Amino acid sequence: MTEERFKVGIVGGGAMGEALVRGLLAAGTLSPAELMVSEVHGPRREYLERETGIRTVAENGRLVEFGDVLILAVKPHVVGDVAAEIRPGLRPSQTVISIAAGVSLEYIEKSLGEGFPVIRVMPNTPALVGAAASAYCLGRYAGPRDGARARTVLEAVGRTVQVEERLLDVVTGLSGSGPAYMFLVLEALADGAVRMGLPRDISVMLAAQTMYGAAKMVLETGEHTGRLKDMVTTPGGTTAAGLFALEEGAVRAALQRAVEEATARAREIDERGGS
Ligand SMILES: NC(=O)c1ccc[n+]([C@@H]2O[C@H](COP(=O)([O-])OP(=O)(O)OC[C@H]3O[C@@H](n4cnc5c(N)ncnc54)[C@H](OP(=O)(O)O)[C@@H]3O)[C@@H](O)[C@H]2O)c1
Repeated sequence: MTEERFKVGIVGGGAMGEALVRGLLAAGTLSPAELMVSEVHGPRREYLERETGIRTVAENGRLVEFGDVLILAVKPHVVGDVAAEIRPGLRPSQTVISIAAGVSLEYIEKSLGEGFPVIRVMPNTPALVGAAASAYCLGRYAGPRDGARARTVLEAVGRTVQVEERLLDVVTGLSGSGPAYMFLVLEALADGAVRMGLPRDISVMLAAQTMYGAAKMVLETGEHTGRLKDMVTTPGGTTAAGLFALEEGAVRAALQRAVEEATARAREIDERGGS
């Protein structure tokens, strides 16, 4: 089956909007002519046009005419206003994708008027460097074509999976907030090396590359993480000594608690509609 070609309109040319534009162009998924961004700030529109060659507009009406896929990349508290702006021109053949944290499918579907396909996404900030981990869920009017469109867009900036909406808070607690956990772990590892005498810049680079390499091995080999760990743990060796210190520090429990706490907080925010 040949993949469908579609045009994408992005509401909001902020950090995430720009990341999506750059990812879609870099991956060759879309040409500049197949992308349009609506953005309220003039200088930001000029910047995006100059940097990426796409067209930008100041109002959402023109974007709705243009896009087969409309991505809501604005802050959660303005999603309702944006939905009201795009509602008059919306066609059922279009797919609306929201990346706004904490804004439910039901809220967006109601704001658009029932019957329009909506997809809700939890992305994460590594989208800015093409390494996002995102999860998406389908609204009640979204079908396989809408899901395929969302996957195509999200795979241009990283990896993605489909989940049920009730699990999106867990995704927030894991991959949404996860980059911050990883920065903390990375910083602590580098601090350890500095304490042992290694210069800071070398420590940070080695720690970051180690985290990157370990993650790449998990993703590319598909091996169980326990087996990968055992492969580098020589009996009586250095790694075994280091791992013992981590177990003593209850690192596993602390990370599990981090996901639990963040998930609970995401649930609270969801219940309040994203604020
Ligand atoms: N989990 C994560 O790590 C994660 C990461 C990034 C983003 N997200 C989600 O992604 C969304 C976008 O985040 P962001 O950081 O890219 O936001 P942002 O930088 O605020 O970008 C949104 C842009 O859209 C503009 N805008 C506001 N109302 C508009 C309208 N009606 N029409 C057109 N443009 C409008 C905003 O202007 P003003 O500044 O004047 O409002 C701003 O320039 C958020 O909802 C966030 O929850 C999640």
